[in-house]
Amino acid sequence: MAAKILSHARSQELYDQACQVLPGGVNSSLRNVVPHLVFKQTHGAILVDVDGNEYIDYQAAFGPPLLGHNHPEVNRRVAEALNGALLPGVGTIELEIEVARKIKQHVPSAGKVLLCNTGSEATYHAIRVSRAVTGRKKLIKFQGCYHGMHDYVLRNIISPPDKVGKLDPGSAGILPEVLEQTLVCTFNDLDDVERTLNAHRGDVAAIILEPIPHNIGCVLPKPGFLEGLRQLTTAHGAILIFDEVITGFRHHLGGYQAICGVTPDLTTMGKAIANGFPMAALAGKAEIMDRFKTRTGGDTFFAGTFNGNAIGCAATLATIEILEREPVHAHTFRLAERLRQGLREIHQRLGICATVAGFGSVFLTYFMEGPIENYTDLLRNDEARFVEYRRKLIDRGIFKMPVNLKRNHVSYAHTDAHVDQTLEACEAVLKEIFSARAGGRV
Ligand SMILES: Cc1ncc(COP(=O)(O)O)c(C=O)c1O
Repeated sequence: MAAKILSHARSQELYDQACQVLPGGVNSSLRNVVPHLVFKQTHGAILVDVDGNEYIDYQAAFGPPLLGHNHPEVNRRVAEALNGALLPGVGTIELEIEVARKIKQHVPSAGKVLLCNTGSEATYHAIRVSRAVTGRKKLIKFQGCYHGMHDYVLRNIISPPDKVGKLDPGSAGILPEVLEQTLVCTFNDLDDVERTLNAHRGDVAAIILEPIPHNIGCVLPKPGFLEGLRQLTTAHGAILIFDEVITGFRHHLGGYQAICGVTPDLTTMGKAIANGFPMAALAGKAEIMDRFKTRTGGDTFFAGTFNGNAIGCAATLATIEILEREPVHAHTFRLAERLRQGLREIHQRLGICATVAGFGSVFLTYFMEGPIENYTDLLRNDEARFVEYRRKLIDRGIFKMPVNLKRNHVSYAHTDAHVDQTLEACEAVLKEIFSARAGGRV
């Protein structure tokens, strides 16, 4: 498959207009990437831009459309919900009860559930209630993990090398006093966590983590790491929060906790829960969840004008029911494994130094040698090559986010033909990049 000469003329025109009214032309810091594309349609595994170019989509809006974009059944259920109680804003609608029941049924840690609209809200509330329950201030997160845009957690994500192990705020405008309460440990290093808990004995309210840090691609927990965190948090009286905003529903209906067998105290969910509609949830032990002031006598405030709205609930119910009855995980895991294996074979054939990582429906190529156990290891990834590779794939109609360390997602709408086309394009681009670098030699 030859590189297409794609025209982005209309995208450029609209992007210039967008920049006049939206700072940077986008509504989320991570969406400002080159090429600046403006999209007019999404369907199944495909994105269509305003110039009519089609792309096989592996970016998947950072994770939600697990069933594929614009899934007809999910959309139909949302349309039906529009005729009912959309947002009374007082009391409860039946759909909220049904969604909470489904989450409780599937997610091992879910004694009780509360619904909100974004993953950031869910992690914010999880941390606040952990502080309320323990009466402690400090939080432990891991270098490389992302838990949303709020001040409690926005530090040490994709840090430059000189900031690893030091304070690396993710934004201007955060109170230093807030960031100081968030301690940063190394993923897969239980000794580091234990040292930190001992150094701050009696001060740590919670440990929050992505059980698989997917915000830096895919770093798998070493055997015993999650179990060790469970033991350490219990011994130190801290709350264990699994942030399953990416892993939840995508890897298993019960989240990664249902796969690894470690049950946290609190779980945050979002993204794939509603296949592209806004919905997120916080779930956990009933005695912790009962601290929320949604209950008379609770003392931890929890609110949101759009919480539990019918659109998000209907989309969530439809998504979960499809995940219950159709082989979504078997299909997406098989195709992603085909991609991982196919990429490894290509790298070997071309003699390219690369590591293919992934789990379930997630995959990516790092341009480095393994092993990869934590963020520091990933500093060896060749960022320039990583981004160049993805930009060239976009020219061939394959959309992987052209940003360092970002993961790719397979959806239920991807097919074997998409995989074949993707592998062919990857091989062609790798040949192009590496033969240019090696002066004609791959
Ligand atoms: C693991 C994780 N937690 C929380 C969030 C925040 O979710 P949202 O963007 O819906 O606020 C994200 C978003 O990427 C995430 O990846």
